[in-house]
Amino acid sequence: MIDRVCTIVLILLSTLAISCSDSEQVECTSVGDPTGDPLPNVSIPPYLDCRDPLPGDTTDSPTGKVCTNVHISGATEEGKRFEQYASCDVVRTQRPYWPAEPKGLPSPTDPRLQDQDFMTELAWVTDQLRSTGCVCCHSSSILAAPSQWDIEMEGIWTDALDSRGAAIMGGQLASQMLGHYPSQDNNGFDRDHTGMPTTDVARMQAFFRADLERRGVTQEEINNMEPLGGGFIDAILNEEPTPCEEGQGVNQDGTLTWTDNKGARYVYVMNEDSSNPRTPPNHVPEGTLWLLQVSPSDQPVASGLRYGSCPPGASQTIPSTGEPPALVRGQSYHLYVLEDVLKPITNCTFTY
Ligand code: HEC
Repeated sequence: MIDRVCTIVLILLSTLAISCSDSEQVECTSVGDPTGDPLPNVSIPPYLDCRDPLPGDTTDSPTGKVCTNVHISGATEEGKRFEQYASCDVVRTQRPYWPAEPKGLPSPTDPRLQDQDFMTELAWVTDQLRSTGCVCCHSSSILAAPSQWDIEMEGIWTDALDSRGAAIMGGQLASQMLGHYPSQDNNGFDRDHTGMPTTDVARMQAFFRADLERRGVTQEEINNMEPLGGGFIDAILNEEPTPCEEGQGVNQDGTLTWTDNKGARYVYVMNEDSSNPRTPPNHVPEGTLWLLQVSPSDQPVASGLRYGSCPPGASQTIPSTGEPPALVRGQSYHLYVLEDVLKPITNCTFTY
């Protein structure tokens, strides 16, 4: 019996060794694998969830499956409900959630309630939202205590937003911390021009722009409002790297170090002029030479790993196969290390 156990362990160990340290083909655990048991307070990277349509639902998808990006900015097929095709528990790890009071309350005597055209548009906006990851925190049918605005609120729920919220929804204020997919990879839902993903950008913009006009908000006022997440997010995303200090960078022997004691879930070596990573799924800047990510069910990696290696639990995202390019002596690079999404611990440039 004991012999058998040992053999199994040996087999497992040798597979691990092959998949993690063989330099020909780096192939590690899949990051964002939903079958793993994620650690608490770790942001789970987005992944595509493909499922059979529910009874009564149909799909035009060529595979016959309904595929949904499990992410805040993801959307399932138009007309379907996001939470029936993707995990809202996962989405709620991807940005902070807290219950919050509405910024305003709908009035039961609002004359717009009698305006058929307006009510048709409101119903369309609400239906669009039902297909998106936004509902994971903004619908009381999914969560007992939604964050500020709730699409299930009686009456004209958009009144739960303040002017700034409406400007974010209509795309007049940035919300890049929520990430975005190309619409062709997101069931036709675009989030490049509006706060919420939509299949009809012009129609969505028109709805929220009309709402701002009704509120009497001027363009100048909008220009002075903070984007989603406020200056804090902009400061992180646009922070200039500083020259690496002693103990930060990649040594001649390939040892990659950072000085903060914290473990890392994302380690980037990039060309010197590469910008800082955005949030997933837009987290791979141009000029990324090597990106190591740690699976949400594994402990973060410690400083001192080798450039191009793959510690257990980690996965090389860039390049997708093979070794990263050898660093060139005398050339400068950008090292960016994050404890987790939007939590950088090192942002510096070093000369190899
Ligand atoms: C993981 C939870 C979560 C998800 C998912 C989420 N939000 Fe929110 N949202 C929040 C929280 C928390 C607040 C802040 C509430 C407060 O403090 O008033 C908020 C507030 C907002 C506001 C008001 C602006 C502000 O800063 O107060 C807008 C607009 C907004 N969200 C848009 C969206 C859109 C669009 C989506 C989908 C693309 C989305 N949210 C998805 C949690 C979430």
